[in-house]
Amino acid sequence: EVWNPNGKYRVVSTKSMPGTRWINLLIQQDCRVEICTEKKTILSVEDIVALIGDKCDGVIGQLTEDWGEVLFSALSRAGGKAFSNMAVGYNNVDVNAANKYGVAVGNTPGVLTETTAELAASLSLAAARRIVEADEFMRAGLYDGWLPHLFVGNLLKGQTVGVIGAGRIGSAYARMMVEGFKMNLIYYDLYQATRLEKFVTAYGEFLKATGEKPVTWKRASTMDEVLQEADLISLHPILDKTTYHLVNKERLSKMKKEAILINCSRGPVIDEVALVEHLRQNPMFRVGLDVFEDEPYMKPGLAEMKNAIVVPHIASASKWTREGMATLAALNVLGKIKGYPVWSDPNR
Ligand code: DGY
Repeated sequence: EVWNPNGKYRVVSTKSMPGTRWINLLIQQDCRVEICTEKKTILSVEDIVALIGDKCDGVIGQLTEDWGEVLFSALSRAGGKAFSNMAVGYNNVDVNAANKYGVAVGNTPGVLTETTAELAASLSLAAARRIVEADEFMRAGLYDGWLPHLFVGNLLKGQTVGVIGAGRIGSAYARMMVEGFKMNLIYYDLYQATRLEKFVTAYGEFLKATGEKPVTWKRASTMDEVLQEADLISLHPILDKTTYHLVNKERLSKMKKEAILINCSRGPVIDEVALVEHLRQNPMFRVGLDVFEDEPYMKPGLAEMKNAIVVPHIASASKWTREGMATLAALNVLGKIKGYPVWSDPNR
């Protein structure tokens, strides 16, 4: 699909993206926009090299693509100077290779913060109240009357939510769970947690002023503290060498037997084989997963586990957010082509 065929700058999007604002932005700035219409979901490196062709000024790509040496050198040979991932995470992008070939890299933070946190909150509630199991039960025609024991789950109020990775999304999630459900909070972040600290301080003042029952919070000095103390744990780190299999067999064994674990970050943060085994041995342990170690696949056994809720990497999938992500990605590429500041540069 080609927009503005006579545009001076050739910008390729490896996928169709929601909305038209991103296309209009590029067209207005003299870009020819080419959108790949290939039906298969995941494009190979060879597919993308072919899309880049001989002349390409910038590419908007997806988290399912492997942006490394081969693609950045192809883009640079085609005269390209800009690449943007349509995602906040950029573990699929080799930023060093991009730098080596003089290609600026952008990502799309901010617009997906609340949407992603809302999905983590949805999975938390769904796991705590066993909503998916109950829905399946109902549809199977098994409901034959109210019973005191039927689908008894956890009351979140007064329990402790643990947040690992207190960046934008982790902090938004923590706010939702503390303010919305009056959970106590324990959080762990290696780098910084200023956002969350400001919130808990201000919220504490608010509770005092309104005379409401206070909730407690603390910044943990080790991750294990969170694992041991929290009833509900949500993972929000970036994926890199240090967070690969951050949650492994040993760490799973430190969590409460009836804990709930949520992951809307990246699949490889959890050792999924160890998780399946843990779910098998601890039927009261529950998990809500938006991401998987070998996406789009699940490790054997996971799909059969009643104590797991699994959804297909949809944390940022709200219309407003996806249109915003597309727009930010276009602005990133445009910025570099036209010499404006790149909107969002992970190197900054
Ligand atoms: C991201 O942006 O990194 C999400 O995984 C997809 O929205």
